[in-house]
Amino acid sequence: MRSTRLALAILLGAVLASACATREPRSSDSLYREVGGAPGVERLVERLLDRVHENPRISGLFANSDRADLQRLIEEQFCAEFGGGCTYTGRSMEESHSGLGINHAEFEVFVEDLILAMEDVGLATPTQNRILRIFAPMRDEVVDR
Ligand code: HEM
Repeated sequence: MRSTRLALAILLGAVLASACATREPRSSDSLYREVGGAPGVERLVERLLDRVHENPRISGLFANSDRADLQRLIEEQFCAEFGGGCTYTGRSMEESHSGLGINHAEFEVFVEDLILAMEDVGLATPTQNRILRIFAPMRDEVVDR
């Protein structure tokens, strides 16, 4: 759990810094390769969706969503963000989450599940932290209360 705590500390730092953060340029595919390419992204998203669907603190929010669609869209987004050269075809983070009424605590639970999923698939802590630095600044687009 030490690495989970470290990752959470980095996440907090990233959230605090997000107001003035610039997106890490994705001209390199090094993060995509660290995650294991397309099969690695697929495994990671599968574990993330398993965990959020099994987590009673946030599973209710997913009751009306289509798991297969979500898997496909999040895989696409992760591939694009990690430098894998995919084009994300889903809605914006604001548009897709605005009707859900997600609060800050629920966002943090989702991030905890992401960290646990990254542990499940055996990603190294520096790789986990690169991923958290990408998604932490999206908090304000996802949370709306
Ligand atoms: C940075 C964090 C997050 C990322 C990168 C992310 C990514 C995505 C993506 C790519 C989609 C699909 C968009 C589309 O339908 O076109 C989506 C939808 C969804 N997300 Fe997230 N998400 C995040 C945080 C959260 C959190 C915190 C929750 C709830 C606790 C959540 C719940 C959902 C649900 C329920 C949908 C389906 C909405 C629908 O079917 O209309 N997401 N998310």
